[in-house]
Amino acid sequence: MNVLKRQIAEKIASVAANPALSAETLLDFFDTPPNPEMGDLALACFRLSKVLRKSPVAIASELCEALSQDLPAGIARVENASGYLNFFIADSYRVDQLRSILKAGADFGKNEIGKGKTMVIDYSSPNIAKRFHIGHLGTTIIGHSIKLIHEFSGFHCIGINYLGDWGTQYGKLVVAFKHWGDEEKIRQEGIDELNRLYVLFGTEAEKNPAIQDEAREEFHKLENGDEENLRLWRLFKQISLERYLQTYELLGIHFDSFNGESFYSDKMPAVIEELREKNLLKLDDGASLVDLSAYNMPPCLILKRDGSSLYPTRDIAAALWRKKEYQFDKCIYVTSAGQSLHFAQWFKVVGLMGYDWEDQLIHVPYGTFSINGEKIASRTGNVVLLDDLFDEAIEKAGAIIEEKNPDLEDKQSVAEAVGIGAIIFNSLLANRIKDVNFNWSEALNFEGNTGPYAQYTYARACSILRKNEESEIENAVSLQPEEKELLASLSSFPEKVVRALNEYEPSVITRYILEVCQNFNRFYNVCSIQKSEGAEKAFRLGLCRAVKNILGNALHLIGLRTPEKI
Ligand code: ARG
Repeated sequence: MNVLKRQIAEKIASVAANPALSAETLLDFFDTPPNPEMGDLALACFRLSKVLRKSPVAIASELCEALSQDLPAGIARVENASGYLNFFIADSYRVDQLRSILKAGADFGKNEIGKGKTMVIDYSSPNIAKRFHIGHLGTTIIGHSIKLIHEFSGFHCIGINYLGDWGTQYGKLVVAFKHWGDEEKIRQEGIDELNRLYVLFGTEAEKNPAIQDEAREEFHKLENGDEENLRLWRLFKQISLERYLQTYELLGIHFDSFNGESFYSDKMPAVIEELREKNLLKLDDGASLVDLSAYNMPPCLILKRDGSSLYPTRDIAAALWRKKEYQFDKCIYVTSAGQSLHFAQWFKVVGLMGYDWEDQLIHVPYGTFSINGEKIASRTGNVVLLDDLFDEAIEKAGAIIEEKNPDLEDKQSVAEAVGIGAIIFNSLLANRIKDVNFNWSEALNFEGNTGPYAQYTYARACSILRKNEESEIENAVSLQPEEKELLASLSSFPEKVVRALNEYEPSVITRYILEVCQNFNRFYNVCSIQKSEGAEKAFRLGLCRAVKNILGNALHLIGLRTPEKI
């Protein structure tokens, strides 16, 4: 379609021969007509009136006359409809379009924007000793999808789970453990026990604030290499990771690195020294900070009064290390919008340090989750644990499969694919920046615009292809409107990928999936495959094959699995 648009625009530009009407300008003047009888592309001539100093009707009639003599090959005819030019795409052009989609096979939609480039993506990154709740879902699945879209666009991608595994909170856990913990229990109950200890520390600290000092002391010992504290901290980390890995496995996510905050603890002094040498550090009531008032931002805190480092300090150290290690062309951070200021601040500090790659650091924020309109808070128990949500979704999918298709092979793995798919799809449907109010029945809905609906549609295409033999697509077919519409959706896949890539927006793909599914289901209901034969049947099966390839890839790009039988 875009190629055709450009060809028409170039023809008009040469006919009009007016410097104010370049092909580029004309490209913006095209619309899609409200119904297919009015053609596939329309040009509203009133948009040319001002420049050409003629009425739209006169322009349309003159251009129609001139263009009819010399139409691009893909256009069958052009009609003048009182001030509008309506263009009709030739069926032969569409046949060629489908042929080239099929020829590209599973590669259709890929691009080379990232060829030779490296991207690093920092996502999921939970703070250890806490169980995953739906607040962690956004960064995990948005990050995963952004990584997949980059890979599809030729980037070499490095996924980093920057575990929150350093800071006073681990002093708190050590204190809680030493007072009330039991190693055996931790080994048996895993992260739940760690979580319990952590919450217990909070309630105790309200009664007895002095244990906060104890926590700082224990963390200080940890930082200075105290054997016992290090051993405990390693245990907490290992227990947490074991649990997280189960969740990642279920989601099909694999990280290239788990270098978390602690990994940078010995790399911080050099950064602080560098900031000092570059005269960027200011002392303020004993703390060290970088003044950002010239950039309308509050100062970036680097060192606390007691000399311990902070979240931004560790992020700066990590960015410098990653640049050296991976030579990235961009480094993406996916977190909730609540951290936007944090990233803007330390990105600026990196720039002030004289590094010219400040603009390769990209923060991708997303809206926050709430439950019943209230903020998620582990301490008050206003959380939905991911494990619970996943279990329920898988169980529901399993029950539906049991009812509809009890003889299906691999029932458990299909139930997982569908149950988890429902949750991912639902979370990636709206623009990422929109806040989400979590609702159980919505998250577990399998009807309408949902992941299961898309997965069923995919499986339907697979089943048609299993039952029918495909053959060479021929030129002589006359196409139904539903076939044209489906083909138009299918051929726009590459544009959607580029948009999703440039905007860091998986929802572009999610909504595209729904568009393809709707068009495919409409086509399937109107254009019988069983009753068709010859060239018509070959074309229809070709469409099914293209749906399988494109829908399959699109679903993978947002992290869904695609069972061929459901
Ligand atoms: N651990 C942090 C949290 O749970 C997210 C880390 C994001 N990444 C980063 N480089 N700061 O809020």
